Formats: sequence, structure tokens, C-alpha cells
Amino acid sequence: MIIKELDEAFVAHTYKRFPVEIVSGKGSLLYDAAGKEYIDMGSGIAVSSLGIADEGWIQAVTAQLSLVQHTSNLYYTEPCAALAAELCRRTGLAKVFFGNSGAEANECAIKVARKYAQDKKGADYYNIITLENSFHGRTLTTLAATGQAHYHELFQPLTGGFLHAPANDADALIALARENKVAAIMMEPVQGEGGVYPLSAEFVTRVAAFAKENDILLIFDEVQTGNGRTGSLYAYMQYGVTPDIVTTAKGLGGGLPIGACLLGEKVEGVLGYGDHGSTFGGNPVCAAGALHVLSRIDEELLAEVREKSAYIVKELTGAPGVISVSGMGLMLGIETEKPAADVVALCMAEGVLALTAKHKVRLLPALNIPMDVLEKAVSIIKSALAE
Ligand SMILES: Cc1ncc(COP(=O)(O)O)c(C=O)c1O
Repeated sequence: MIIKELDEAFVAHTYKRFPVEIVSGKGSLLYDAAGKEYIDMGSGIAVSSLGIADEGWIQAVTAQLSLVQHTSNLYYTEPCAALAAELCRRTGLAKVFFGNSGAEANECAIKVARKYAQDKKGADYYNIITLENSFHGRTLTTLAATGQAHYHELFQPLTGGFLHAPANDADALIALARENKVAAIMMEPVQGEGGVYPLSAEFVTRVAAFAKENDILLIFDEVQTGNGRTGSLYAYMQYGVTPDIVTTAKGLGGGLPIGACLLGEKVEGVLGYGDHGSTFGGNPVCAAGALHVLSRIDEELLAEVREKSAYIVKELTGAPGVISVSGMGLMLGIETEKPAADVVALCMAEGVLALTAKHKVRLLPALNIPMDVLEKAVSIIKSALAE
């Protein structure tokens, strides 16, 4: 396998790859170099929200490619402005900063929070509270935000000023916030990499109310949960709270790299000219792809996401080999009797690509996965779980 040898010789060994080379795909099907077909139940970790090679998305992206593929943020481009306007229209938030990834969107949120608090309360109000077991990215600052010690060990010293509170314990978080000078509280509505754990509504509403009363910013990291993944455009919408900042990436671009930091009214003017930037941020091709993705995430598709979610949950809950099923929408975690990695390997052999998250099997199929394809995948997953 020449590609495998090339990759191992020349690509940094940060990813332990499966012995599969993906060469093409269509919709929710992927094909490897030997022509074997797989049902894609991972969407490149919640990225290919409309599946592979979606016709409308290709058209939107290629039309922009043939106009201008990139120019500097020194100039206006239509897709960037239109995408920002659409994100604001659909969320009620006020402004958008574009970057290229989830980590970059979170970096922006953290910078905005620190500057807001410094301007309003003083330079010592720099602390950000995040949750234990969270995941916010791989840059030194977003690693510091990530509430999992094992990610921290190799890279000391990380950015300071991050405190971690247990998830779903509002009293503990509020006590921590009272003991420290805090700029913001940041949370994933469903902890994805941590094992697909949704936050409780009671926790989120209590923390949101406390943050509001104390002029502490509430940041929702919707890098994984955003863009229709949980059955609403953004997961915060199901909690009935209004964050000051929402970050997103992954599924927004449908397969091209884009990250967005959405700023509410309170913080829309915090960053001024030159305070922040990104060479590729708001790239017209990525923005055109994202605009198309957003145009497809309508009430009909969201209802489909919820229905397919209910189908998977019903099929897997109580099935042989399953301990529990958690998650929201098409972001589901299956706690398995045998090791999750063994289930994923069995699924792969039978033509289904699934993911893990900690000790769970994680499913993140395309939002528009056809029902018959989903049924086939679920039946293979069930056999793998029971084997
Ligand atoms: C909740 C969350 N935040 C941030 C990130 C980092 O995103 P990226 O890998 O695009 O930098 C991830 C990636 O898995 C994520 O799930």
C-alpha cells in the first residue's frame, strides 16, 4: 500500500489511522482504494453536514471558485458579508468574526471576553470558567480551556486564567465564579469529545441567569453541536438561553474549513480595527459553501434530524451489547458492553464507519442521510454490538 507507506514516512504521526484509504464518495457513502463501500456515520467528525459531493454545495463552491478564490480581508467580498448577515439573522446575534477552525473561533471568543471584562471591570477580571471533561481545541489557549488534564501534560506552561467546574453542578460553578474574578463561562451544550454528554437544562438556565446578573459573559462552544447537528440550528436554542457569544466551525462549511465567532449585542463592538484577524478568515469559497449549507438547514431538514435521531435511539436503547444511549439529534453516543474500539472495528469490516468518543461509540452521520442507508447502518451496528 504505497499511500500508507508515503503517509507514514512523511506525515507527522499525530493521527493513528485505520488501514483504509478513502478515495471518493457520494452522499452518505464512501469508497476506499479497493472499491469497498462504507456508510459514513461520522461525516469527517461532524463536518460533511450534507454528505459527500452534494450537488448544490458543489455548485455554490465552484461558482465562487471561478469568480475569485481568495482576496485579502482588506477588501469586501459578497459571500463573507452575506454569510455573516445570514448567521446574525438566524441567531439574533449581532456580528461575526470568521476564522478557519473551531479552535480559532474559540480563541476569538476568549479574546473578546478578556477585553470586554478588562474594559468594564478591570485587568484582573481575566478568568474563564469552563467545564470538567470539556474539549475546546488544540491551540495552547484552547487546550488550557479544555477541562481534561491529560491534554495538558505535555505542553506546559499553557495560557493561564482558566478554571474548571464540574458539569451539571450549578452550585459548584457559581461558587467558583464568586471566589474568582471571572470574565466568562464557556461550555459545550453537548460535550462531544468528552463522551457525548448533554448538559442538563436546569444547569444551563441557572448558570445563564447567574452570568447575566453578574455581567459575566456566557460563551457556547457549538463547534460540534452547531449547524443543525442536534436538531435545531444551534443547540443553545433548545435550552431557551441567549449566549453572549456562540462559536462554531465543523459542519458550517460542509467540508471546507471555516470557523465563526458570533458576537451578541453586548460584545459586538469589543474588538476594533487591528485587534484581531485571520488571513483566510471569511474566505469567499468557504463562505459560499457555508451559505449553501445554511440555506439547506431549514425546518424540514431539522425535523428530519430529530426523526432520524429518535429512530436510532429507539433501535439501540436496550439492544444487546448496549448499556445506554446519550446525545441530541444526530450526535449520539453509545455506551457499549465491549470496548467501543472493537465495535468500531467490527462495523468497519462490515462497511460502516463509526467513531468513538472516550469509551463510547459515537455517531455523527450527515444531516441528510437517506433513511434506507441509515437503516442499513443501524442494523450493521446492532450486529456488531451484539457479536
Ligand atoms: C466542542 C469543540 N470545540 C472545539 C473544537 C476544535 O475544533 P477544530 O479542530 O476545528 O479546531 C472541537 C473539535 O473537535 C470541538 O468538538
